[in-house]
Amino acid sequence: MIHEDQPLVLCMVGLPARGKSYIARKIVQYLSWCGSDARVFNVGSYRRSTLGAGQPAEFFDPGNAAGAEARGRVAESALADLLAWVKPGRTAVYDATNVGRKRRAWVRERCEAVGARVVYVESVCNDPDVIEANIRQTKLRSPDYEGVAESKAIDDFRGRIAHYARAMEPVDERDGPYIRLTDVGRRIETYDLTGWTLGRLVFLVMNLHIAPRSIWLTRHGESAWNAVGRIGGDAPLTPRGEAYAEALGSWLPTQVDAPDVWTSTLKRTVATAARLPWPSRALRVLDEIDAGRCDGLTYAQIESRWPDEFASRKADKLRYRYPLGESYEDVIARLDPVILELERMRRPAVVVAHQAVLRGLIAYFTGRPAADSPHLDVPLHTVIRLTPNAYGCDDTRFPLE
Ligand code: F6P
Repeated sequence: MIHEDQPLVLCMVGLPARGKSYIARKIVQYLSWCGSDARVFNVGSYRRSTLGAGQPAEFFDPGNAAGAEARGRVAESALADLLAWVKPGRTAVYDATNVGRKRRAWVRERCEAVGARVVYVESVCNDPDVIEANIRQTKLRSPDYEGVAESKAIDDFRGRIAHYARAMEPVDERDGPYIRLTDVGRRIETYDLTGWTLGRLVFLVMNLHIAPRSIWLTRHGESAWNAVGRIGGDAPLTPRGEAYAEALGSWLPTQVDAPDVWTSTLKRTVATAARLPWPSRALRVLDEIDAGRCDGLTYAQIESRWPDEFASRKADKLRYRYPLGESYEDVIARLDPVILELERMRRPAVVVAHQAVLRGLIAYFTGRPAADSPHLDVPLHTVIRLTPNAYGCDDTRFPLE
């Protein structure tokens, strides 16, 4: 992650049910995974905790002075918390409709006063089916509609959208730098963006979609070096590892249809995928963390030969880089294109790789920060099914011994 000196505030813009909170959450998930400090400030949650859930559609009518005043107060209190939190190196996402230019100018003014840069992220969606699916999948589960009959909740929510639609002023150059996404990444427009973080985020948001699919992950079967505790290398599978490849080859096709299959370039992953009935691609980016001078040693040998190296790794496993090798941070950085491709794909994917590499992928999809990644549990001979959804990601494990 390239450190940027100025704090960044991404101000979401768009009518209700346009996927703003989903995009906001994905942005924070991605930046945290890259090792950056990022956080969403969701005005809807402030409204619910200050004024209570279940405000009717009329509350959102721009002509309702009391409603507008109360909404202004919660917007202010979320923004105040955001401003107290942002600092150089941090990215805050201000998640609200922000449909009016005046409101957006207010956000900009307040952020610039603390030295933060503001970029608007507008989500436009004109596809009635996508809007309908979004209302059903997310809004009906919202605390705003707890205990309300479905048809009544949908009517009320449509009323809320109509109020905002009357006040909608799309973002343009007069607002300042922006990213506009139309119809779930079908069209993307950017204006006046600069810097590393924004460049990465454009790639991320253009690949997002909410079509249901699963990502299947597994480590290779046990290798000859696993069996004796040696790290790295390019050893073949043991008979136990071969038996896992066999079990995987007969079980996985009962679970998933026509996936893309990726392995690393190392013998143990290629052999593990060999019994699957689908073609596979061997990708160098999926190779195991490079242990450099420690490659081929056991942990006990590293500790006795280079106790300082061993201790440094223990103290900061994320940043520790093996002499002439890699750190977890390096692995995460090289996995970035894999993440973007997995986000983009609509077909299921099967990834046969290694402990450190899979930790990186799981950390991203399950919304964990970079620092958690070196410590995640990824046992041998276990298939992990990740299913991203509107709120997060299901992580289901299938031991196959
Ligand atoms: O032991 C198997 C292995 O894949 C090694 O090749 C690799 O160095 C290690 O796991 C990564 O795990 P950790 O970062 O916990 O040492």
